[in-house]
Amino acid sequence: MGRISLPDLHISLPFLMRQKLSVGIDIGSHSIKVCQLEPASDGYRLAGLGSAILPSGAVEDGVLQEPEIVAETLKKLVTNLKIKGRKVAISVSGYSVIVKKINLAVMGDEELASHIEAEAEQYIPFDIDDVYLDYADLKTNAEDEDRTDVMLVAAKRDMVEGYLDMLKAVGLRPVVVDVDAFALENAYGANFGGGKEIVALVDIGASKMNINIVSRGTSILVRDVVLGSRLITEQIQSHFDITFDEAEAIKIGLQDAGERKKDIEDICVTVCTQWVTEVKRALDFYYSNYPDEKIDKMVLSGGGAKVKGVAQLFSEETGLRTEIFNPFARAEANPARIDPDYMKFMGPEMALAAGLATREVAF
Ligand SMILES: Nc1ncnc2c1ncn2[C@@H]1O[C@H](COP(=O)(O)OP(=O)(O)OP(=O)(O)O)[C@@H](O)[C@H]1O
Ligand SMILES: [Mg+2]
Repeated sequence: MGRISLPDLHISLPFLMRQKLSVGIDIGSHSIKVCQLEPASDGYRLAGLGSAILPSGAVEDGVLQEPEIVAETLKKLVTNLKIKGRKVAISVSGYSVIVKKINLAVMGDEELASHIEAEAEQYIPFDIDDVYLDYADLKTNAEDEDRTDVMLVAAKRDMVEGYLDMLKAVGLRPVVVDVDAFALENAYGANFGGGKEIVALVDIGASKMNINIVSRGTSILVRDVVLGSRLITEQIQSHFDITFDEAEAIKIGLQDAGERKKDIEDICVTVCTQWVTEVKRALDFYYSNYPDEKIDKMVLSGGGAKVKGVAQLFSEETGLRTEIFNPFARAEANPARIDPDYMKFMGPEMALAAGLATREVAF
């Protein structure tokens, strides 16, 4: 889909330089994030970074409800950021996306390709003709075993096409459609990959969490949970009977909480504890399948990772060392184009966009 093929010219004069990496665009329910990276000798150079808040309801459960508003917001954002590349990578999640690890008899690539639809049908709650299907053989079989794990991804066509049409309306060319949890994994791999560790990646957005347990570079468990930082805002709003915008401003520290401080802290702890409960469920499920494969650490990202004390709470409750993700650990920025403080401040929210920005563009 969307892949193009041009002859390689072997010329790299600046004005002929072609885009090597896709522009990462993460369309969340709270905001659109854009990240553009360029390959550098020791990692990446950050060429563009920015976000724009979306009105409530424009994106719900991963579906574009108001494509015109999203298109308009994205167009302004890429124009303001002077993003030159047209080839973009996006990711999807939500109820229209199914990610499932299935266990199949070992087959050759061609045989698997011809079998996968029939196999997939029983795991997908949608008509097989209504979904885009992709898969990867994880090749988990040891030498003498005849079964292997295959990661299966299905995304409803109408949802994906909603995104593709919206991007085309903005004049962008989608070259990669990823899944949120895998974009997160790519972001982590691009910065800290290659190790033997087992890491629980948890992205806490406004309305959902993506959990991905990655063992030695391979996803073992992927789970989405419909809980996020918006819940804190809603609880502050109803507790103090104030507007959503005021509650949001207080939550993120733009407005002084004053005497409400203690109550707000309590609300944050209550909601964060709900997040931890869901993460613990995923960890329990993982340990029931891999009792001897100890997780080394947990890495939090998304706007929810900015709640004060959240890493400590996760660490205390799960017993895992917990860090806040910096998706730009291997990226340097041109300070004339990108404020280093902004880059640091936005790091947690930019995890998915950064992962999408590491995807190579096929020529
Ligand atoms: N300092 C902060 N403390 C608490 N919450 C914060 C802070 N900064 C941002 N947030 C919250 O993080 C959320 C936005 O995070 P993010 O950009 O990751 O969400 P999103 O990707 O748009 O949403 P989703 O992935 O759920 O669709 C908002 O609810 C915002 O209020
Ligand atoms: Mg998000």
